[in-house]
Amino acid sequence: MDQFDVVVIGAGAAGMMCAIEAGKRGRSVLILDHAAAPGEKIRISGGGRCNFTNLHAAPANYISGNPSFCISALRRYTQRDFIALVESYRIAYHEKTLGQLFCDGSSRQIVDLLLTEMKRHGVELSLRTSVEQVEKTPDGFRLRLSNGEAQCRSLVIATGGKSIPKMGATGFGYDVAAQFGVSVTETRPALVPLTLEPNMLERLKPLAGVAVDAVAACGKTRFPEAMLFTHRGLSGPAILQISSYWREGAEITLTMLPGTDVFEALRAARAQNGRQALHTALSALLPKRLAQVVAETENVTGNLADLSDKTLRRIDEAINQWRFKPAGSEGYRTAEVTLGGVDTRELDSKTMEAKSVPGLFFIGEVVDVTGWLGGYNFQWAWSSGWSAGQAV
Ligand code: FDA
Repeated sequence: MDQFDVVVIGAGAAGMMCAIEAGKRGRSVLILDHAAAPGEKIRISGGGRCNFTNLHAAPANYISGNPSFCISALRRYTQRDFIALVESYRIAYHEKTLGQLFCDGSSRQIVDLLLTEMKRHGVELSLRTSVEQVEKTPDGFRLRLSNGEAQCRSLVIATGGKSIPKMGATGFGYDVAAQFGVSVTETRPALVPLTLEPNMLERLKPLAGVAVDAVAACGKTRFPEAMLFTHRGLSGPAILQISSYWREGAEITLTMLPGTDVFEALRAARAQNGRQALHTALSALLPKRLAQVVAETENVTGNLADLSDKTLRRIDEAINQWRFKPAGSEGYRTAEVTLGGVDTRELDSKTMEAKSVPGLFFIGEVVDVTGWLGGYNFQWAWSSGWSAGQAV
């Protein structure tokens, strides 16, 4: 039986950060993963360039049953701390938009950074290793693994959420929580494309691939970012962001020409050249295919000169207050993250340790803290992993 101070299950962003910090403190650390490679989600993230943090990361960018839970970890290990680590490895990066920092080169640089740090601090990495059983002992935990047994004083669960099962996501972390009586809040796919009813989808089919800068709103929450029509429905940053706030049956409002008074623009076009068709006038404001679909959907034919102010107002509404109820989402298959998770009321916000099970820690996406799109989720992984790393 191998003995360690700390066993971390899950060699993703959070797990590796925790292992590094524990190693720095002289702890003997085993990090294991059932996958063949560590940090696979880091590798595929940000289109292969890893949006590793956000310059503006703050508690307001996170969704949780307890919105103040993340404050302590985000303060203790900030985006500036991670940026300093990236810079110490001379990894070139840039701000793409809205404070989102990406590697200039490849996301592999971030995985390599973490692997180098783990090695430097004596962390043992065991891949293709699954956990068959977890047992509490008087002074820690005993694990039955696919390749042997291990004992530890601190056990860290860093197995992430349910998104992208094809990449090895499992409900393992929630099962461990249940085993130890730690409650888990409802989980659902988030940062996920939304699907549309068949009738609407049929109508919007010609728009697949069309993108516009829009504002997507659900209730009082709104995101001004790009949106994209797809073969299944709607995607793009604005839609992914609002998907985390949307619930079945709720309405979403899209503003596809934010900052433009479409009614006034069409009135001016009518006064200037009344003989043009509506879709021609709209093409000056919107992508051509979208202009065409709006005119068809609103059943408007004839020249602008034939259209009343009332009709122009209706067109304005169709573009800038398009309300619809999504049929659903694409689910965990394509969701970037999982909303919900281990109930934050069960955890110490400074250390991520379960209050009722000393020595058991939950970090990263498995916890009920979900960031917006834009590097916020990795920052949570770094911050929560770092915090647990100081306590294990
Ligand atoms: P993560 O999922 O990274 O790691 C969990 C690890 O546990 C995995 O290695 C897995 O194999 C292992 N594991 C699971 N079950 C196990 C079991 N039973 N036994 C052993 N091991 C097990 N975020 C962001 O901030 N910027 C970005 O650019 C992106 N981009 C992005 C793209 C795509 C396509 C996805 C799917 C997600 C993103 N994200 C993102 C989100 C980000 O990837 C995510 O929030 C973090 O990876 C979460 O880190 P964790 O370490 O908590 O889990």
